[in-house]
Amino acid sequence: MRFDIITIFPSLFDSYLKESLIGKACDKKLIEVKVHDLRNWTDDPHKSADDTPFGGGGGMVMKAEPIYKAISEVKLGGKKSRVILFTPRGKRFNQKKASEFADYRQIIMICGRYEGVDERVAKFIADENISIGNYVLMGGELPAMAVMEAVSRLIPQVVGKESFLKERKKGESFIEYPQYTRPEVLEINGEKRRVPRVLLSGNHQKIKEWRKRKGKSIK
Ligand SMILES: C[S@@+](CC[C@H](N)C(=O)[O-])C[C@H]1O[C@@H](n2cnc3c(N)ncnc32)[C@H](O)[C@@H]1O
Repeated sequence: MRFDIITIFPSLFDSYLKESLIGKACDKKLIEVKVHDLRNWTDDPHKSADDTPFGGGGGMVMKAEPIYKAISEVKLGGKKSRVILFTPRGKRFNQKKASEFADYRQIIMICGRYEGVDERVAKFIADENISIGNYVLMGGELPAMAVMEAVSRLIPQVVGKESFLKERKKGESFIEYPQYTRPEVLEINGEKRRVPRVLLSGNHQKIKEWRKRKGKSIK
């Protein structure tokens, strides 16, 4: 799986891509991540990726042209590439979408900034407009990290447990449940907080039922 990220702030990804399971996945070449500076596709001396909005209004809008050039250059082509534009007006990202994206060979993510992106990118360049929630962030870089993590953990060997791969089966939900570790008893604000007894029982059937009861189905 290859992720291509188009951003005006490429260095935001520097430490993120070196750490934790994403860093390991990159080292082991289980995933490949290419972060592109959008300004490389601008053609004025100031390398401007934005301009004032037609019709007036405050703020700046990201230009479509450099984005179009960037996508044309980095896209591997064919049906195995998917181009995503991040916008709070997009379709809500969820586990099912992550599974869908995991089937592509290349995910290209366009990170907006300022007041957003020239709408022609949403309409004619991106395959999908994606939102990670009903709130407005300052840019698409955090959404790109969120999508990359959710998709990467569905790629064999990235999280190390093949059982995770059952999540990939389309339409099949799975349970995320509360977890506890040592110590069994912990004093918090003067109260002794214990690990639920069932988890210490060794009764796997009961533990399974408890996890199902307390968990949340992810789809
Ligand atoms: C301040 S927002 C501009 C939103 C713009 N008015 C729009 O409707 O797309 C700047 C950028 O942050 C990103 N962004 C903000 N909130 C987001 C969300 N909930 N999901 C995905 N991307 C988001 C988008 O890339 C967006 O272009």
